[in-house]
Amino acid sequence: MSRAAAPLDPVPAGDQPAAPRHVAIIMDGNGRWATARHLPRSAGHERGVEALRRTVDAAGELGIKYLTVFSFSTENWRRPPAEVNTLFALLKAYVQRDLGRLKAEGVRIRIIGQREGLPPDIASLVNKAELETSGNTRFNLTIAFNYGARDEILRAVQAIARDVKAGVRDENISESEFAAYLDTSGLPDPDLLIRTSGEFRISNFLLWQAAYAELLFCDVLWPDFGRSHLEEALKSYNERERRYGAVTPGAG
Ligand code: FPP
Repeated sequence: MSRAAAPLDPVPAGDQPAAPRHVAIIMDGNGRWATARHLPRSAGHERGVEALRRTVDAAGELGIKYLTVFSFSTENWRRPPAEVNTLFALLKAYVQRDLGRLKAEGVRIRIIGQREGLPPDIASLVNKAELETSGNTRFNLTIAFNYGARDEILRAVQAIARDVKAGVRDENISESEFAAYLDTSGLPDPDLLIRTSGEFRISNFLLWQAAYAELLFCDVLWPDFGRSHLEEALKSYNERERRYGAVTPGAG
């Protein structure tokens, strides 16, 4: 999206297959990328931010409206403190450096995950980014930070329990009402979930929301990910048939 002419406008219909509305990515392999080059793991995370920038640009250009990326999990606290600090510093630097540009390009930024436990400077920066971009509608970038799906679901259940106790809601809560208690309230479910680095796991990411997502696992390490890999993923997505539990029309 750093390019000049309306970079978030999708390529005209007919020139490319329909893009999934919402793509979610587990950005994995930063550590292995760095180790293979005899670099510190932090170098892999730094290059991971570059890959994120490329992917945000490409996603907008390819007609995707929602991109959600997993950048720090509730389990990542188990990493050495220096690495945790690096990831926090990178989020801060990314928002500080890119907020103005993303805002001008019509990108709405959301951060999902636990706010409690974030250092106050990061929490206030995240609030600022969300507030300043809340009116944007061209593209939606959601960063999962200090996020775990089980934690998100538990917090939703606790909030519902509080509301029911207060007499505000009854217990016959529907799927859509439940979803409104999740951090992703207001976002469509992901259509395509990509994980890089050759691992075949969901790792506590969007467990509720990805119920019907197409899953795509690719070998590329996240710092090497770019537009061509995203295009490959969209091609694979377009070759699949999504049935949502139904049968193919006309099938015997
Ligand atoms: C997984 O690679 C990646 C992460 C835990 C962090 C993802 C973070 C970024 C892409 C950069 C930060 C971006 C922002 C916006 C903060 P890994 O370290 O588990 O790699 P490995 O499995 O090869 O060790």
